[in-house]
Amino acid sequence: MYRAPIITVLGHIDHGKTTLLDRIRNTKVTEKEAGGITQSIGSTFVPISLIKEVCKEFKDFKSSLPGLLFIDTPGHEAFISMRERGCYIADISILVVDIIEGFMPQTIECIEILRRCKTPFVIALNKIDKIPGWKSEEKSFLRNYEKQLENVKIEFEKRFYEVISKLENFGLKGERIDRVTDFTKEVAVVPISAKTGEGIPELLYVLVGLCEKFLKSFLLKTENSKGIILEVKETKGIGKTLDAIIQDGKIEVGNYLVVFGKDVNIVKVKALFVPKGIQDIRAEKRFEGIKSLEASRGVKIVCQDVEKIIPGSNFFIARTYEEALKLAQCKTEEFSMEENRCKEGLILKADALGSLDALRNVFKNFKIKYCEVGQITKEDVLAASINEDDLLKAIISFNIKVPDEIKILAKEKGVEIFSSEIIYELLENYLKWRKEKEEQKEREALKNVVFPAKIKILPGYIFRASKPAIVGCEILEGTIKPEYELIKIENEKIIPLGKIKEIQDQGKSLEQAKKGDRVAISITDAIFNRNIFENDILYTNVDENSYKILMEHKHILSDNEITILDEIKNRKKI
Ligand code: GTP
Ligand code: MG
Repeated sequence: MYRAPIITVLGHIDHGKTTLLDRIRNTKVTEKEAGGITQSIGSTFVPISLIKEVCKEFKDFKSSLPGLLFIDTPGHEAFISMRERGCYIADISILVVDIIEGFMPQTIECIEILRRCKTPFVIALNKIDKIPGWKSEEKSFLRNYEKQLENVKIEFEKRFYEVISKLENFGLKGERIDRVTDFTKEVAVVPISAKTGEGIPELLYVLVGLCEKFLKSFLLKTENSKGIILEVKETKGIGKTLDAIIQDGKIEVGNYLVVFGKDVNIVKVKALFVPKGIQDIRAEKRFEGIKSLEASRGVKIVCQDVEKIIPGSNFFIARTYEEALKLAQCKTEEFSMEENRCKEGLILKADALGSLDALRNVFKNFKIKYCEVGQITKEDVLAASINEDDLLKAIISFNIKVPDEIKILAKEKGVEIFSSEIIYELLENYLKWRKEKEEQKEREALKNVVFPAKIKILPGYIFRASKPAIVGCEILEGTIKPEYELIKIENEKIIPLGKIKEIQDQGKSLEQAKKGDRVAISITDAIFNRNIFENDILYTNVDENSYKILMEHKHILSDNEITILDEIKNRKKI
């Protein structure tokens, strides 16, 4: 027995996600939304009989799935955590892109989320009816396309290839649905109009086909009953409910939910509601009470202690209280990272297990000491402070308020706390902080280093012959600073000339002079016409320690500076 695949609909605001679902289920949710903006996650189960009807012209259409469960998500930029929550549970996704607007910021963000969650997806290239001159006569995109005038086709192709080339920036190859040769390597792009309904048969056909071909083994229903809480909210006529998706197994009135949020909570299911017909769970007021429900479906759960439950939490379903207690214990151990704690690494904290998982994914390229659900504690701060690497002395906290005393302690211990309700912002801020720290470290490491430089004594600019000699010179390469030692290299011999006492330009003292500058310098041990002459080439005396540090920070030197550095090194036999 198979469960319905969970299909999340993602995309930039107003690109037509809700309209597409309205079209598939023949409802008008869009009209009821405040300002036409989706603000919550809604789920709709579409039975296979209805999909068969829409796809009837595909003679080879067949499926043993019970239907498809669609999850609508908000496109508004503020709702990133809802998109992540939606994506986290998806078996496959539809990324809706407006063909007129093309890729927009949340389109890009959605692709990044999809890749992180490793969710396969197809692109619904929506609003093709808006292409100037487009005629909508058929429900099949391909047949309709053939009927368009040549210049309309050209306009379509132009916009189509713009989207394909944007996909290439992510290393993805997009192909029009009828031209895909390998669904594991190419992203299928289905041109549609949610307004006229064209292209929707092709879209449903490809979704069912992909699930049948590649996802069947994941869709086998098991006894392992579980789900995820999408939202906790007031439902008219019912009271506070948990809007949830049952991902696997079955739920019955009288069962217990073992909810893994901040803490583990066990709550008893008092009642279950689903919308009548195939309407969206959000918009339909007429709900009917049911006794039990099989995966994959959206459901409103009435239970005790709703306040304790956080959206995004995963839950398991137990038939008895004893079974719930057992599940709570063994799943806690499974989820706990305690035994996997690393010596060095970042500490990640989040409000719920689902979001912690997403957070861990975003930070997967960094060493992680441990991940935990719940408030930041003093122990977390201390654990972060004992990291040897300064760049890891940080705590990343998602969707939790940081108490003032923890902030104070962190400051004392030199631990940086990053806190936000947007996972991406956490990564961005951490990367920025890391970069600043690295630059600061680099500045400190380079503070006492002698840089390589090559200078030429200019003829006719000998101001003083000795003690110290003062000469005019041009910096041919590199940088000089007061206190740098200068040397002259003659055949195999190194002639030390003492330190640069001062650098001056038109009577003003300078802290440094760079390539191309012409300045006057005083050199402590140089004596004109004895160890220095007009047109002489002098070098800075790069010592062994400076050479080592410079080689570690090679990126700050130009190619020419590296050549000079090598020259000095070879002559000095460092
Ligand atoms: P959010 O949920 O707020 O992110 O938006 P959404 O992606 O759900 O977009 P929605 O379905 O609310 O559509 C936004 C607007 O685009 C509405 O006015 C729709 O009528 C219009 N629209 C959607 N699809 C099409 C289409 O295929 N053609 C045309 N012409 N208009 C469309
Ligand atoms: Mg919407």
